[in-house]
Amino acid sequence: MATYKNSCGVFVLQMMVVALLCLHAQGQGLKIGFYDKSCPHAEKIVSKVIDEVMAVAPSLSGPLLRLHFHDCFIRGCDGSILLDTPTGQTEKFAPPNLSLRGFNIIDRVKLALEKACPGVVSCADIVALVARDVTVATKGPFWEVETGRRDGKLSIITDLRNPGLPPFNANITTLKQSFALRGLNTKDLVVLSGGHTIGTSHCSSFESRLYNFTGKGDTDPTMDQNYIARLKLKCKPKDQTTLAELDPGSFKTFDDSYFKLVTKRRGLLQSDAALLDDPETRSYLVQATSHGSTFFKDFGVSMVKMGRIGVLTGSQGEIRKVCSKTN
Ligand code: HEM
Ligand SMILES: *[C@@H]1O[C@H](CO)[C@@H](O)[C@H](O)[C@H]1NC(C)=O
Ligand SMILES: *[C@@H]1O[C@H](CO)[C@@H](O)[C@H](O)[C@H]1NC(C)=O
Ligand SMILES: *[C@@H]1O[C@H](CO)[C@@H](O)[C@H](O)[C@H]1NC(C)=O
Repeated sequence: MATYKNSCGVFVLQMMVVALLCLHAQGQGLKIGFYDKSCPHAEKIVSKVIDEVMAVAPSLSGPLLRLHFHDCFIRGCDGSILLDTPTGQTEKFAPPNLSLRGFNIIDRVKLALEKACPGVVSCADIVALVARDVTVATKGPFWEVETGRRDGKLSIITDLRNPGLPPFNANITTLKQSFALRGLNTKDLVVLSGGHTIGTSHCSSFESRLYNFTGKGDTDPTMDQNYIARLKLKCKPKDQTTLAELDPGSFKTFDDSYFKLVTKRRGLLQSDAALLDDPETRSYLVQATSHGSTFFKDFGVSMVKMGRIGVLTGSQGEIRKVCSKTN
């Protein structure tokens, strides 16, 4: 195996990881207000549609925020998560998509934008703008979204596994690695995990913590026993459909209570609980719930960084006419 330098300026050992290293947050070609001239009302149009959707279907805030994370972590933020193909062999159709919802809302935003400025605003940018707007709609922070992403032409089912999203039972080492491979640091990891302040999870994503943690019919010893008892009432073994709140009590509000719960060993997913296993993430959990919390500001900063992962800009890719199809 030869060592060489690829276009991302990173020494790599294996051909296979070149594509992954190119996912590093770079973001050249993105800027705030990219559509100011070409589609002056683009951002207003997006937020208007999202306000309408949130008024009637607030439970879509979680799925719509999560969509941007999934898009960026697989092939970069290029809208490929939105693609359908006749064979169904795209990212959308691989198992970890489990609960991805809200694709039709992205289509609705796209329709409104195509009416105002045909062929101008990319689907990848729509996903990024929508993630910001649902955060604001749930009383979370506002941040300026960089735009100028172009849409990718490929979506491959196996991309979900290789390198893949971090799984729900990822430990802190795996989580840090997964983020580092995309140019995101440990602070970004704990800050962005704060996205779990809204939304829900299927029981199947944490069932083993309740019923069969090590294969001996045991529970996860790191999880609060009272919380386990409560969750067992909601989630019976092998339940594939019931949803549990990621941040019980305020799962419709973007606030700091997720961090409080994780600190009290009431993080729902193993990946949430894992944030207690590293000194840096652990101290952030405490900081984020203190009087001088910087969580809201940090969230915007880390979302902008995440939004730069592996983007296509300039003349790369295309501007899709319909988000579920390449042109
Ligand atoms: C750190 C690694 C992460 C892991 C392992 C992870 C895993 C998961 C899992 C397993 C679910 C529940 C899926 C289900 O069973 O329905 C979920 C939901 C969610 N995730 Fe994450 N996630 C991570 C990071 C993020 C990030 C960075 C964001 C956004 C900033 C995010 C936003 C969400 C949201 C909003 C939901 C709720 C979705 C809904 O209401 O349907 N997650 N995540
Ligand atoms: C997710 O993938 C499954 C197959 O694993 C597929 O049946 C389902 O339609 C996909 N969900 C969405 C929203 O595309
Ligand atoms: C974390 O998970 C990875 C992948 O499953 C595993 O190889 C590793 O040994 C785990 N590390 C610790 C400290 O448990
Ligand atoms: C618990 O896990 C073990 C090992 O994976 C498996 O053999 C066993 O059937 C599981 N028990 C239940 C009740 O699912």
